[in-house]
Amino acid sequence: MITLKIRNGNNKDQVWIRKIFREYWGSEVIVTRGKAHQADQLQAVIAEINGKPVGLLTYRIENRECEITSLNSLWEKHGIGTALMKAAYHIAVTAGCKRLWLITTNDNTPAMEFYEHRGYKKTAVHKNAIEISRKLKPEIPKFGVNRVPIKDEIEYEMVL
Ligand SMILES: CC(C)(COP(=O)(O)OP(=O)(O)OC[C@H]1O[C@@H](n2cnc3c(N)ncnc32)[C@H](O)[C@@H]1OP(=O)(O)O)[C@@H](O)C(=O)NCCC(=O)NCCS
Repeated sequence: MITLKIRNGNNKDQVWIRKIFREYWGSEVIVTRGKAHQADQLQAVIAEINGKPVGLLTYRIENRECEITSLNSLWEKHGIGTALMKAAYHIAVTAGCKRLWLITTNDNTPAMEFYEHRGYKKTAVHKNAIEISRKLKPEIPKFGVNRVPIKDEIEYEMVL
């Protein structure tokens, strides 16, 4: 039987989390709004099926706002991304946050649809923000989903 379990990440998950960052985000750093976030400085939620990790969401809380800094499903269209987003929502509410927000890039239309289907609102387009991000993280590729040039940060939020 397939059982999806969602749990908080802990120190023992660090090697795997760093591996996921390198594999899917090109390095152990994520840059959002001109700030570099190291994988091992972020909080994590992990999705597991039969004890095997199949999804990772990282986040950070500052000034009563929760930023989802990364989201990866290793087995898409089976409810893993949705379950991780629900967990982040509960964490943010429990922590007394007034806002849950995230950044994606202009090429990533599948992610934008995913967030919009879950009630997130696009609140800003930060034009050419990736130029600044590339100064902190040169590994950011020039082209993304469907070979669309990666240039802008798109900000989504859910008011809590
Ligand atoms: C975006 C992402 C996290 C979504 O994860 P996921 O595990 O595929 O998410 P889910 O399975 O919960 O939902 C995806 C779609 O599959 C559908 N789905 C879920 N279970 C399903 C099933 N058993 N059969 C058919 N469809 C299903 C969902 O309804 C959803 O569609 P909707 O948005 O129209 O409602 C994933 O595509 C991903 O890792 N992308 C690459 C990294 C990325 O871009 N991350 C976001 C960066 S900001």
